[in-house]
Amino acid sequence: MQYQKRTVTCGDLGAADVGKNVVLNGWVHRKRNHGGISFVNLRDRYGITQVVIDADSPPELQSAATELKPEYCVAVQGIVRARPDTMVNPDMATGALEVQAEDITILSRCVPLPFQIEDKTNANEDLRLTYRYLDLRSFSMQKKIRLRHETAFAVREYLVGQGFYEIETPTFIRSTPEGARDYLVPSRLYPGKFYALPQSPQLYKQLLMVSGFDKYFQLARCYRDEDARGDRQPEFTQIDIEMSFVRRDDILTMVEGLMGYVFKKVLNVELPAQFVRIPYDEAMERFGSDKPDLRFGMEMQDFSPYVADCGFQAFKDALAAGGRVKAIVVSGKADYSRKQIEELESQAKIYKAKGMAWMKVNAQGALEGGVSKYFPDAALVTRGLGAKPGDLILIVADAKAKIANTALGGVRSKLGKELGLLDPAVFKFAWIVDFPLFEFNEDENRWEAAHHMFTMPQEQYLDTLESDPGSVKGDLYDLVMNGYEIASGSIRIHDSELQQRIFRIVGMTDDEAQKKFGFLLEAFKYGPPPHGGIAPGFDRLVMLMAGETSIKEVIAFPKNTFAMSPMDDCPNEVDEKQLKEIHIKIVPKEEPKA
Ligand code: AMO
Repeated sequence: MQYQKRTVTCGDLGAADVGKNVVLNGWVHRKRNHGGISFVNLRDRYGITQVVIDADSPPELQSAATELKPEYCVAVQGIVRARPDTMVNPDMATGALEVQAEDITILSRCVPLPFQIEDKTNANEDLRLTYRYLDLRSFSMQKKIRLRHETAFAVREYLVGQGFYEIETPTFIRSTPEGARDYLVPSRLYPGKFYALPQSPQLYKQLLMVSGFDKYFQLARCYRDEDARGDRQPEFTQIDIEMSFVRRDDILTMVEGLMGYVFKKVLNVELPAQFVRIPYDEAMERFGSDKPDLRFGMEMQDFSPYVADCGFQAFKDALAAGGRVKAIVVSGKADYSRKQIEELESQAKIYKAKGMAWMKVNAQGALEGGVSKYFPDAALVTRGLGAKPGDLILIVADAKAKIANTALGGVRSKLGKELGLLDPAVFKFAWIVDFPLFEFNEDENRWEAAHHMFTMPQEQYLDTLESDPGSVKGDLYDLVMNGYEIASGSIRIHDSELQQRIFRIVGMTDDEAQKKFGFLLEAFKYGPPPHGGIAPGFDRLVMLMAGETSIKEVIAFPKNTFAMSPMDDCPNEVDEKQLKEIHIKIVPKEEPKA
């Protein structure tokens, strides 16, 4: 097809172009007709330009204009002219100009749309994903994809500037589960054998350190078969980083520099040179979460000083059992109804709290409602907690510190949302450090690695690893922002003997360890350097930079909540021949017996 190629884009034209003969290529965004004059908003990636087909233009031009419908792809040739003063649109970059059409060629037509291409679409998510290529035409999606691109570019620019090499690692690897389920790829050549898709390039990046590439990074695709959530996808991207001859603080400082550069370059937002560092235990006590949202205060306080002399037995029992009684003060919310308080209590119960106590500070500063009758010395409590008249006090007690903390932490998070305290334009980073190395898996009655098995225990615990695994802290750290875990990393073990001790503590026999990780242990026999690293979740980072709460919004072609792509209907069945080639037989799912 012969057509006129664009000489400018739909976002280019300025006052200096008036009088020029130009060609635009783009899509019909909107069309309207006023008294015989047709106005067509032509759109491309760069912007929108108004095209005018005057009432006295030749009949073939008028009939071409009549034929145009939304999302037709067209070429327009015409003359740039200034709009009359009364027609200037200050909200459009090209709003002072228009192109008087002289020729219109329809490059392709568009059937009726499943939904309008607009920034605030009310189409449901599956429909958007079914027609993702249309959804991506909206300026709001184009902006987010551009933000992702610019962020990736800034990441590369910074890290390359710091002497890092970008090195790709395989996506067909040996199955070495890291915590989630693996996605497996059957081998055609070796019946009964499988490749796995990497949950992360963890072992390869450590091997690259053994090879001497002391500063590595990669925008790495990772694959995890786990339940979807707003901030999780079965395939996602990490800014995977590893460094040799470093201590923890070198890595933290490097990531602070990276984030500072990226936020300045992409969003023109200045971040502090250093992010606060909060030990894990402290984060749990103050916020009831290891990924606290620091955009608002409402910190949890220790309520135990007021318990000894009170008459409320549940609080006393919790403390006597070695638990916690924790409180938060909700400023100015003494007017919360019983129903509102009950809703907050149900939030606490999600985290296994038995209940949530409350009381209000009235205008005179006295305590009233809820459990107030057990606390006759109102001044002691309100002064201690810093509660003012009109405030609401919420209290959770439990014999298990973790339950009391996480339950009230859950209430704090809900309140943050409910009270509009989560400004998406504010970015509050923090490092959470000194995590426990092991977690006890109650279901399986065994210790397991809190992060992964290659994390170095902090030096002071080396003698008590086996005797008291629960108290061992790891040289591991998370970067959190606005209530999300943005990155996770650690200093690694580079000594095969210590690595073997860790395997044994998590219940892995030497044989099993050899089978699964023998190649790593072998590599560690050849002078491995001390090393450590981190992996910021790229999708989560871009999601927060875009002010979104779902990573799907910043991924061109994401899976839906059921790990499916409604656009190409994936995963899909494959034909018998393909299955035979890879030696796979499908066993039909057993129907539950009636
Ligand atoms: P981890 O498993 O904590 O660590 O992952 C690092 C970061 O990746 C992001 N992330 C995800 N993003 C979207 N969808 C998911 N399903 C998903 N899972 C994780 C999070 C998380 O903080 N190899 C280690 C890193 C290291 O030790 O260097 C690792 O993968 O932002």
